[in-house]
Amino acid sequence: MFDKSKFIFPVKEEYIYLNNCGVSPIYSGAWRAASYFQEKRSHKGAAVFSEYGGMLTELHENIASFVDTARENISFVKNTAEGMSLLANGYPFEKGDEIISYIHEYPSNHYPWRLQENRGVKLKLLPNDYTGNESKENRPLGFSFETLKKMVTDKTRIIALSHVQFTSGFAADLSQLGNFCHENNIDLILDTAQSLGCLPIFPEKHHISAFAASGWKWLLGPLGSGILYTSENFRNKIEITMAGADIVKQGEDYLNHSWQPHADGRKFEYSTIEAANAISLNQCFLDLFNRYGSENIKNEIFRLQDIFLKNIDDDKYKHLIFDKEHRSGILSFIVKNPENIVKAALSEKLFLSGRGGYLRVAPHFYNDDYEIEKAANILNNLE
Ligand SMILES: Cc1ncc(COP(=O)(O)O)c(C=O)c1O
Repeated sequence: MFDKSKFIFPVKEEYIYLNNCGVSPIYSGAWRAASYFQEKRSHKGAAVFSEYGGMLTELHENIASFVDTARENISFVKNTAEGMSLLANGYPFEKGDEIISYIHEYPSNHYPWRLQENRGVKLKLLPNDYTGNESKENRPLGFSFETLKKMVTDKTRIIALSHVQFTSGFAADLSQLGNFCHENNIDLILDTAQSLGCLPIFPEKHHISAFAASGWKWLLGPLGSGILYTSENFRNKIEITMAGADIVKQGEDYLNHSWQPHADGRKFEYSTIEAANAISLNQCFLDLFNRYGSENIKNEIFRLQDIFLKNIDDDKYKHLIFDKEHRSGILSFIVKNPENIVKAALSEKLFLSGRGGYLRVAPHFYNDDYEIEKAANILNNLE
C-alpha cells in the first residue's frame, strides 16, 4: 500500500532515516512541485498565478479533509510558533485569567503563552509527574490528568499542551482532555508538530479549539510551512494582531482601506505567503496523507516500531513504555549519553536524534522492515 521507493524518498540512498521527529526529509513530489512553480514564475512573473490562483484554497481543502473539518477552519502559517502566537496574542484575556501548560513543552508552545504574563495572565505549569512509567530518572516524561484537574480554577481559560511530547514521546489522551475541557468551558489548544502526519487528529471529535503544527516533520513538507486549525467559535473570539493586504475581503483593491477582515481561517493569513511552500505542502497531502489515511499511517509506524523493539537489545537500550492511549511516533530510550550514540550511529549511516536526555527513534511509513532491523543491529553492536 505504501510507496517506500528510493525514487520518492531519496534519503534512503544515504541513510536509514529515523529522525522524522526532528527535521524529516522532504517528499520528492513536494520539492518538485515547488521547483516547478518557481521555474514557471521565473518565466512568467505574476502571470504564473493564472495557473496557481486557487492553490491556497486547495491546500485548505486537502488539510481539512485529512482532519475531518471544513476548509474554513484551516490557515496556512509559517511554523507552529507563528500559529500559537496569533492565538495567544489575540485571545481576549482579562487580568487574572489562567493558562495551564506543561513544564517541559517545546519553546513554540511555551513562550507565546509566557508573553501573556505581560497582560496580567498567569501561566501555570503542570509538573513532570506522569506515573505510568518506572524509568524517567529526572528526564521529561509527561503529566498526570489528576494533577491537571486539580490545577484548574474558575479562572482557567486555556489548556495549551503538545499532543506528543518531543522528548519522551508521551501522547496526551485527547478524548480525556477534550471531554474535560468541553465540560468545563476551557479552550484546549494543542501543539501537534509531533503528531500531525503520524497520529490521527480529529479536532471536532475531541473538542479541540485550535491546533498548530509544523510542515517539515511528520508531514514531510518544506521548512517554513505550518498549519493552524481553529474552530469557528474559538476563531471568532480571537482578535487580529497581525494584519496586511490578504486579511481583508476586498483583495487587490489596495487603496480601499475599509476594515473587512475575513472571518474564516484567512483571518490569520495576513499577507503574502511563501507560495512555493504552500504548493509543496499541498502535494504531500495529495500524494501521501490523504491517499493513505491517518489510521493506516499510524498502524504502519507502530508496526515498524514493534519490529525495532523486537530486535533491539533491551539490556543496553531501555525504552519508555506507554499505555496504548499515550503511545506516539517517537520511541524514547534511556541511555547514558544520547549525543554520543547519535554520532556513532551517524557514522554507520543511521540517522537518529537525542532530546531531553533520551535517544529518539522515529520511523515513518516510508521506512522498510529491513532498514528497521538493520538499525537495531547497528545500535546493538555499538561499543
Ligand atoms: C512539540 C514541538 N512543537 C513545535 C516544534 C517546531 O516548532 P516551529 O514550527 O515553531 O519551529 C517542534 C520541533 O521540534 C516540536 O517538537
